[in-house]
Amino acid sequence: MYLSRFLSIHALWVTVSSVMQPYPLVWGHYDLCKTQIYTEEGKVWDYMACQPESTDMTKYLKVKLDPPDITCGDPPETFCAMGNPYMCNNECDASTPELAHPPELMFDFEGRHPSTFWQSATWKEYPKPLQVNITLSWSKTIELTDNIVITFESGRPDQMILEKSLDYGRTWQPYQYYATDCLDAFHMDPKSVKDLSQHTVLEIICTEEYSTGYTTNSKIIHFEIKDRFAFFAGPRLRNMASLYGQLDTTKKLRDFFTVTDLRIRLLRPAVGEIFVDELHLARYFYAISDIKVRGRCKCNLHATVCVYDNSKLTCECEHNTTGPDCGKCKKNYQGRPWSPGSYLPIPKGTANTCIPSISSIGNPPKFNRIWPNISSLEVSNPKQANVCDNELLHCQNGGTCHNNVRCLCPAAYTGILCEKLRCEEAGSCGSDSGQGAPPYGSPALLLLTTLLGTASPLVF
Ligand SMILES: *[C@@H]1O[C@H](CO)[C@@H](O)[C@H](O)[C@H]1NC(C)=O
Ligand SMILES: *[C@@H]1O[C@H](CO)[C@@H](O)[C@H](O)[C@H]1NC(C)=O
Ligand SMILES: *[C@@H]1O[C@H](CO)[C@@H](O)[C@H](O)[C@H]1NC(C)=O
Repeated sequence: MYLSRFLSIHALWVTVSSVMQPYPLVWGHYDLCKTQIYTEEGKVWDYMACQPESTDMTKYLKVKLDPPDITCGDPPETFCAMGNPYMCNNECDASTPELAHPPELMFDFEGRHPSTFWQSATWKEYPKPLQVNITLSWSKTIELTDNIVITFESGRPDQMILEKSLDYGRTWQPYQYYATDCLDAFHMDPKSVKDLSQHTVLEIICTEEYSTGYTTNSKIIHFEIKDRFAFFAGPRLRNMASLYGQLDTTKKLRDFFTVTDLRIRLLRPAVGEIFVDELHLARYFYAISDIKVRGRCKCNLHATVCVYDNSKLTCECEHNTTGPDCGKCKKNYQGRPWSPGSYLPIPKGTANTCIPSISSIGNPPKFNRIWPNISSLEVSNPKQANVCDNELLHCQNGGTCHNNVRCLCPAAYTGILCEKLRCEEAGSCGSDSGQGAPPYGSPALLLLTTLLGTASPLVF
C-alpha cells in the first residue's frame, strides 16, 4: 500500500518533468492514477485515468530466431568487412567472445565503439533465399508509444516485413513492408507514412524509404508510431487530448498500437547491386546492432505500475480489477460489468472502478458503461441503499453516495456526482438566480424516494 502510494507520487513527478521536456514523453499526462483531495470528510483518494509509464520494452522481451542455428560462428566462418565488400577476412566465431555475435547484442547498451551486434551466417547457399525470422515476445499485451527503430550494422535488407501479434504469437498481421522495390517484392505501390491521413492511418504500407543499398551510411529502419499519432495530436504531438479521445472511442486504433509480439522477417539481405556476386557470397548476411521498442504495459487504464517479476510483466491493478491486463473485476466486486478506464473526460478521465457485488435476489442489474442512469437504479435492491463507499463515488457539493451507483444531490445540484448546478443545465442561471432551483429537485429524484420507500433520503 505504502509502496503504491509512493509510486503514485513518483508517477506525478514523471508527469511534471515530462511537461518540461521539449518533446513530451508520449502519454505522460496519464501516469497519475489516484490523488488525495480534501473534502468535508477530510482527505480522500480520487481515482482517475491511469497507466504505467512508457519505457524501454526491450528489457522485458524474449527473442527467438528462426532458423535457430542462423547466427554466425558455429562453425566459424569468414565474412567481408562492412563498407568494404572485397575485404573478406573478418571472422565470426561463436566460441570466442570477442568474435561472437549472439542475438542478445541487439538489445545491449549502444554507444560503445565499435558497436556490438547480432550477425547471421552468410549467404553461402545462394540462390536458396537467406531468410531469418526474429520474434520478440513479451507474453503480455503492450502499447507502443514511440517508433520502433532497427539499426542494421551491415546494409539495410532489400526486403523485410515487420509483423505483429495480438494473441501471443498464434496469429500474425503485417505491420509494414520494406523493400528497395515494393512492386517487385510485394506487388504493392511504394508509400510513405506521410502519404497517409487520419482516415487511412491504419493502412499497411510498403515503403522504400529505408531500403537503400549496401554502401550508404544509412543504417536505420523505422516503424513510424509518432507520425501516426500526429494525425490526431498534431505536429510535435501538442494536442494529446485529441489523440486520447480518439483512442478512447476507436478500438481499432487502440489495437493498432497494441502488441504481444513483434516479428522481423528478413527476406533478402542488402545486395546493393542488381546481381548477387556469386564469387563473394561472404559479402551477404544480416547484422543488427540495435532494436528500440518503447511502450507500456496495457492495463486498461486500471494501473499505474507494471512489475517485472519472474520474467513476467504484470499490471498492479487498482480500482478493484484483476488479471494480467486488469481485464476483469475482482471477486466480490462484480456489482456491474467490468469496463476499461476511460481517457474521457479530458483531462482526468474516468476510472470505471469495479464496485462491490450486489447480493440481491436474481442477477445484478445490467449497468451501462461509466455510470448507469437513474432508471437502471430502479431495479437495485432498496435494502442495499446504504452500501456506500465515498472513495469509489466521490460526490460533490454535499451530495451523498447512493448504493455506490450515483449521488443523491442537494436541490440546487444535479449530475451523477452532483457536479453541475441544476440551473446551469436548465440554462436558467441568471445573475440573481443562484437559488432558483426548486426544493428537492426533479421528478426523477422524487420517484427514487418513492421507490426506495425511505422516509427522508433527501435531507442534507
Ligand atoms: C518465418 O515465418 C513465416 C510465417 O510463419 C514462415 O512462413 C517462414 O517459413 C518463417 N521463416 C523462417 C526462415 O523460419
Ligand atoms: C477495493 O476494495 C478494497 C476492499 O477490498 C477497498 O479497501 C478499496 O478501497 C477498493 N478500492 C477501490 C479503488 O475501489
Ligand atoms: C437508461 O437506461 C435504460 C436501461 O439501460 C435505457 O433503456 C434508457 O433508455 C436509459 N435512459 C436514459 C435517459 O439514458
